[in-house]
Amino acid sequence: METVIVTGGAGFIGSAVIRHLIEHSDYRVVNFDKLTYAGNLESLLSVAENPNYVFIKGDICDQAAVYQLFDEYRPSAVMHLAAESHVDRSIDGPADFITTNIVGTSVLLEVARQYWIDLDDNKSFRFHHISTDEVFGSLGPSGLFNEHSPYQPNSPYSASKAASDHLVRAWHETYGLPVVITNCSNNYGPYQFPEKLIPLMILNALAGEPLPVYGKGDQVRDWLYVDDHARALCLVLEQGDLGETYNIGGHNEKKNIDVVKTLCRLLDKKVISQPQGITRFEELITYVTDRPGHDQRYAIDAGKINNVLGWQPEETFESGLAKTIDWYLDNPQWCEHVRDGSYQGERLGLAVGD
Ligand SMILES: NC(=O)c1ccc[n+]([C@@H]2O[C@H](COP(=O)([O-])OP(=O)(O)OC[C@H]3O[C@@H](n4cnc5c(N)ncnc54)[C@H](O)[C@@H]3O)[C@@H](O)[C@H]2O)c1
Repeated sequence: METVIVTGGAGFIGSAVIRHLIEHSDYRVVNFDKLTYAGNLESLLSVAENPNYVFIKGDICDQAAVYQLFDEYRPSAVMHLAAESHVDRSIDGPADFITTNIVGTSVLLEVARQYWIDLDDNKSFRFHHISTDEVFGSLGPSGLFNEHSPYQPNSPYSASKAASDHLVRAWHETYGLPVVITNCSNNYGPYQFPEKLIPLMILNALAGEPLPVYGKGDQVRDWLYVDDHARALCLVLEQGDLGETYNIGGHNEKKNIDVVKTLCRLLDKKVISQPQGITRFEELITYVTDRPGHDQRYAIDAGKINNVLGWQPEETFESGLAKTIDWYLDNPQWCEHVRDGSYQGERLGLAVGD
């Protein structure tokens, strides 16, 4: 049986990837995760008892632990998702982003390289690095990011992810490590930590709390349902060409304010009684100080993965959003447990002095 190591498998996208792999493949899947505030094993309850699933608690920056992981589980592939992932947190404290996203990736690459060199049959090994479209910076009103767009990261988060992409590319060019890289647009869906836009708005709305929209809410993001991303990642892992990068996106460009208003309208229909004092959820929308360095627009040209590997999203924004709202309505205990830690929905990411 072949083994895939998934780093960051207790996070939002990593857990979707693991659920997908366990359901649709015969791989043994080893989840290596430090369980930061963003990692939650409750997102993996549906696979926890499966004999093909293994969880190892560990830090990708801990070289000895990563060596032991490779030595014990002898993977045929690594899907690297472990990261600090929230832009606002990167503004408040960039150090963790540099440590995990850059140093951690370099540790993984070096351990993977030593392991790969020593393999008797190393032709099928591959290292899949999962990254973001935020590395390309901000677009004007038109145009799309493609695989040749220049890197222009604007936040500590995107800069740290850009650095990790460069390291992965360099390990391929310099040492021949068999890598594939994917850069994806904004994901949404079940099990997303409620500091990100869509789950934060759903939970605040249900609690009757303000819905904080940054600036005028006119920033544009290209939204992709998380299970569509997980399918794309598994396809690239198995069929992507080594050394290649694939951009992944949902063809769903939306202004943040329109996302929030759509959510409010869907909640008006789904929730029987609004919180006290309001008749429509939109009344909770509150405009707040914008994020420093806030990128105006992201949009992905997913033509390469579509033409070469035949991938396209299955969910529309409307169908994905409806599923997401239903999931948050049906899983209040998951939300309570992830919020049992220190984060309770407060504003993050205003630069020092604000
Ligand atoms: N969320 C998005 O919209 C999006 C879009 C494109 C790309 N990505 C990328 O996909 C990956 C996963 O994103 P996500 O939204 O699931 O993130 P997340 O924050 O939900 O999860 C990250 C996971 O990594 C783990 N982790 C953090 N530091 C670690 C360390 N040092 N060692 C081991 N594990 C550690 C956490 O415990 C958590 O389980 C990231 O690399 C991110 O840059 C995210």
